[in-house]
Amino acid sequence: MSNKKTYSIEFGEVWVNGLRSDSIVDEIKSRCNIVDVIGQHGALKRAGSNHKGLCPFHGEKTPSCVVSEQKQIFTCFGCGATGDVIEFTKRYYNLDFQEAVEKLANQYGIEIRKFGGGDNQKREAMYELNRKAARYFLDSFRKIPNPALSYMAKRGLDAKTLNQFGIGFADANWDSLYKYLLSEGADVNMMKELGLISESKGKCFDKFRNRVMFPIINTRGKVIGFGGRVLDDGTPKYLNSPESPIFLKKNNLFGLNLTRQDINKNDCAILVEGYMDVISLYKAGVRNVSASLGTALTENQAAMLKRYTKNVILCYDSDGAGRAAALRGMDILRAAGCNVKVMHVTDGKDPDEFVKAHGAEAFYALTKTAKPFADYKIDLIRQETDLTTTEGSLEFLHRVTSVLKSLSPGEADLYIGKIAADTHISEGAIRMEVFGNGFGGGKKEEPVNTAVRTEQDTGRRKDGTDPVLYLEKNLIRLMLAQSDFIQRTQPYESVFRDAVYRKIYETMKGLYREDEEIDVGKLADSLEPEEVAVLSDILENVKLTDKEEDVFLDCVTRIRNERLSRREQQIIQMLSLADDETDLAKVEELTRELMTIQQQKNNRE
Ligand code: UTP
Ligand code: MN
Repeated sequence: MSNKKTYSIEFGEVWVNGLRSDSIVDEIKSRCNIVDVIGQHGALKRAGSNHKGLCPFHGEKTPSCVVSEQKQIFTCFGCGATGDVIEFTKRYYNLDFQEAVEKLANQYGIEIRKFGGGDNQKREAMYELNRKAARYFLDSFRKIPNPALSYMAKRGLDAKTLNQFGIGFADANWDSLYKYLLSEGADVNMMKELGLISESKGKCFDKFRNRVMFPIINTRGKVIGFGGRVLDDGTPKYLNSPESPIFLKKNNLFGLNLTRQDINKNDCAILVEGYMDVISLYKAGVRNVSASLGTALTENQAAMLKRYTKNVILCYDSDGAGRAAALRGMDILRAAGCNVKVMHVTDGKDPDEFVKAHGAEAFYALTKTAKPFADYKIDLIRQETDLTTTEGSLEFLHRVTSVLKSLSPGEADLYIGKIAADTHISEGAIRMEVFGNGFGGGKKEEPVNTAVRTEQDTGRRKDGTDPVLYLEKNLIRLMLAQSDFIQRTQPYESVFRDAVYRKIYETMKGLYREDEEIDVGKLADSLEPEEVAVLSDILENVKLTDKEEDVFLDCVTRIRNERLSRREQQIIQMLSLADDETDLAKVEELTRELMTIQQQKNNRE
């Protein structure tokens, strides 16, 4: 096998790098003026040194897409789309990098030289060899009678669908394909490398024998490999081509060559496990479908799907393996930025069986009941834990917390209510577990993990259960010890976001009299039992030292730093959005404020 580098030619960066070093990208960027390219799709008007127009990526009435001729980039302040001319073309036509480069090159008469020299020729030869093999299998499939055709007919498939997928037949002889390819002058080593034949005791024989052949075709229409299914119950049920320079399993999804337009049009992809699931669904009319082919879904596959839609419904087999694969697949898709829902068919073992029995409409109806990923996981945890025991409840809480932590605070909040309602675990307890220090509890305006959280805040006491609410607890403890801290805390009181802590603080404020310490008994009388419990916890567990003043200053510093960081982020965001029409004085003012903030932060650290 020659250069490893060529492996990821379809989608990987290596190709991109190869291309870059060939400077086609540079040539495209210098010859395809972004203003012309975008201008072809909608009027652009000059605005200062830039151009402005309606954004082609989201519906809008007032132009917010800014195109810079100088920088050769576009940015939409409405939807955030941004990039260079290749990125624009990718997004506008739903192409991958290579396709976009080819399209622009064609349009502007730029010749794409062959990169990688010999390697590339070899790849082309491999595609050609696979194409010939696919053609051979197809021709065998069309000879009547043949057992593969009867098999597929028995499984309910018609000629049209079989044709669309290029289904073929590898006959039962030892070397039909081998002989044919030899007669076509093909290279024996290449046949081996593609896994079409193997050699044993000096004799070559076909790898795929007596099987229905499913060509695996990439989105550029090249045959990159095969899956072959036995016609009886022999093993392996499916034999797949090995990895080769043109077939990297982690980079491909089955059926996408046919279905990507439908996926894009539906703005939803249904991801299934098997070849037959895709083909059956497609035949029934469910066309926004693709398969990960029994292997665990990979990051690259998720990224590929996301080029066509963000919305993915995982519909793996209902058996244990399918469920486990769905759980892993979900995480991969979420990490790629997809919205994931999960379903399993309610009748039959897989989508193939279901859709054959009930039709496309019933299948689509079922997709409407697919569970958002968090519901799916929480329901599963629920089934696996015994909420009637304390240990079971703790385990449930622990596992559910890790699901909720992966959500935005707003989403998590919705689930917390639901979970509390269906279990005997209180909302407060779940909230504590999820939000730890109380940030994000109660009325939230900020994401949980901004600023201030430090190890100390989020750390838990050695004995286990209770999260240390560093700031709130310490401030309350200080106020209890010395009432003038109540007054001094007022400028920072926004730190009390958790409902319980806020109530304690507000009550103390009500009881405050100059030169008088807080009467804990009176305070407790005005609080609810849950709040009293928190108060006693603080009294018991937050130890006062003789460094009260230092503790107070530490709390105040943390709160101030948090505010500074938040304002800093806000200003950076505003400045990044400024364009030629933004008031210069405003930009200057913001810049000055930013510098001051950064100085203040530095001084403090
Ligand atoms: P399944 O065993 O669910 O196959 O494996 P299936 O799609 O339902 O096939 P039929 O209906 O029995 O014909 C799901 C996928 O896992 C891969 C194949 O891609 C298959 O489509 N697989 C399965 C293999 O690669 N090898 C095997 O031996 C079995
Ligand atoms: Mn199956």
